[in-house]
Amino acid sequence: MKSAVPHSGYPSREEAIRIFEEKITGNPGNWVDHSRYAAFAAEQIAAAAGDMDPEKAYVLGLLHDIGRHVGIVRGRHQIEGYRFCMENGWTDCARICLTHTHLLKPVNPKSAMWDISAEEVQFIADFIDQTEYDDYDLLIQLCDSLARSIGLCVIEIRMVDVGRRYGVGPTTLKRWNRTFELNSYFDKKCGSNIYFHLLGIGESSLLP
Ligand SMILES: [Fe+2]
Repeated sequence: MKSAVPHSGYPSREEAIRIFEEKITGNPGNWVDHSRYAAFAAEQIAAAAGDMDPEKAYVLGLLHDIGRHVGIVRGRHQIEGYRFCMENGWTDCARICLTHTHLLKPVNPKSAMWDISAEEVQFIADFIDQTEYDDYDLLIQLCDSLARSIGLCVIEIRMVDVGRRYGVGPTTLKRWNRTFELNSYFDKKCGSNIYFHLLGIGESSLLP
């Protein structure tokens, strides 16, 4: 799967960790460990896939929610992360800040998650519409559904967790089904069940 937007930038692992640790002080919360686990899962799955860069996957996973450094926000974290990464020239990371949430197209401008201006929503909607997702977009979408703040879990647990916190709507089932498709896609790429590559996921799935 090729991207309509050229990839050209993401920081090194060391720089990503440094900037992450700096930014989380602005809004320490569950998203911090969620991001760390998403990064770990992305790296492991990318390594198992064989045709992906594990370091790039780690960095994209670590920074996908970096926009949450501004405070407790919903959809706004996407555009804040995009802006922050673009200011640093990290176009790959910026892209992931927008794509990781949008498993389904088109973007719904009336979604309850939007706490930004109509112009900003339109920018995100246009960006998503014009972007053909590549394997990194899909990987971080999947890893977002594998990572809780207390550890990795099978996707069913995370989906219900998010549904209980934010509510479910008319597109919830479609979104769940898309998540299962992503799971199958990466199972095939890895040549085995992705969970076999995620150390400790059995135990951490059982955590309440
Ligand atoms: Fe996330």
